[in-house]
Amino acid sequence: MKLWAGRFQKETDTLVNYFNSSIEFDARLYRQDIAGSIAHAEMLGKTGIIEPHEAETIIAGLKAILTDVEAGEVEFSLDDEDIHMNIEAILTQRVGEAGKRLHTARSRNDQVAVDTRLYVKEEIPVLIGQVLDLEKVLVKKAKVNLDTVMPGYTHMQRAQPTTFAHYMMAYANMFKRDVTRLEDCLERLDECPLGAGALAASTYPVDRFQTAAALGFQKPTDNSMDSVSDRDYAIELLSALSILMMHLSRFSEEIILWCSWEFKYVELDDAYSTGSSIMPQKKNPDVAELVRGKTGRVYGNLVTLLTVMKALPLAYNKDMQEDKEAIFDAVDTVGLCLPVFAAMVDTLTVRPKDMAKAAAGGFINATDCADYLVKKGLPFREAYMIVGRLVNLCIKTGDTLDTLTLRDFRAISGLFDADVYQALALKTCVNGRKVYGGPARESVEKQIALIEEFVEARANV
Ligand code: ARG
Repeated sequence: MKLWAGRFQKETDTLVNYFNSSIEFDARLYRQDIAGSIAHAEMLGKTGIIEPHEAETIIAGLKAILTDVEAGEVEFSLDDEDIHMNIEAILTQRVGEAGKRLHTARSRNDQVAVDTRLYVKEEIPVLIGQVLDLEKVLVKKAKVNLDTVMPGYTHMQRAQPTTFAHYMMAYANMFKRDVTRLEDCLERLDECPLGAGALAASTYPVDRFQTAAALGFQKPTDNSMDSVSDRDYAIELLSALSILMMHLSRFSEEIILWCSWEFKYVELDDAYSTGSSIMPQKKNPDVAELVRGKTGRVYGNLVTLLTVMKALPLAYNKDMQEDKEAIFDAVDTVGLCLPVFAAMVDTLTVRPKDMAKAAAGGFINATDCADYLVKKGLPFREAYMIVGRLVNLCIKTGDTLDTLTLRDFRAISGLFDADVYQALALKTCVNGRKVYGGPARESVEKQIALIEEFVEARANV
């Protein structure tokens, strides 16, 4: 019999029963649900809303259920719809009368809100930890590649020289922002909706500060209607995770390109690549491709939730039951991508010779050539024009700037001297860029130190 059978004259249609229930996916909130119920029962006992001995019976019963669920000895039922009613039904079955008092001054609406917040509150630090592990890998790769010169690109055209270390630290900075976004989300969601009831709290003298503290929240939420209709924290989480996946996806895209024979900048470890069922020569970057692909799932979950919420009047509406699969799937997906991606980057081999070869072509020192003339007194625009003509000449003759003869240089501008070759050497070009944030060794060392500090500050949190 349904908990709410009193008002009804007919049994629920079988298909509706199945359609309406969420136990298949919200069963994973059993721990949070039991924790919420224990805090609620303690408060009911302490405030005298129920007898203290009844509270004790309830709490002991809930603890036993937790143990049994964890041991795989509890079977949930579709008829009891969701995790909240399942636990309550099992409790009442086991402890009798006292169990029927647990739902005093409470609704599934504040229950589900507290369960979901508790879940998100637990998962965010795990995800942050995984991002920080990735940061450590990037730092490690950067440290050994401070002098690994490679072309930097704009429009996918070789543009200016940089180093693999500088490149890694670019991603490290993106992931740093992801961490702070997750931290922001965690801070904002740290308020407890328990006690909001269905929407208008209750007439019982519930102590919301007590339950909030018991569950580890900073404070109770300030408005009971908002408490049960708010899913902002989940949307914030999925937004932060979408941005994080966007970063992983961009990085994946680069790795996929860099593994190709056209680039050959890196080689993935055998353990982190896959073969083809038909082409014997293939070594495919499937891990990076899957991370790129799974980004779509996470974006999809964000759009699902935004769309579910977009026209909901206050307060709770059943539409909101759709939030859980989106949240779980996003958390699971990101939680799966991060460690495998970090390990893939950790184990990849950098190929400095191929990077240097690519860096030697494509005139990535053209800006430096113009800067050389500027240092000799020419206005930048004129210098730019002269180097443009030199590049044009090179394209015709198949030269690069550094294979031109001094005579070629001087034919276009008398300001060129033999020291131009030194100025055009890629090492000079990179190490001259000592600007804060730039690719020179000392600048990148500073960037590494900042990321290390950031990671270190969170080591024991
Ligand atoms: N299973 C529901 C959910 O996930 C719990 C809240 C149901 N509340 C209600 N009044 N029907 O949203």
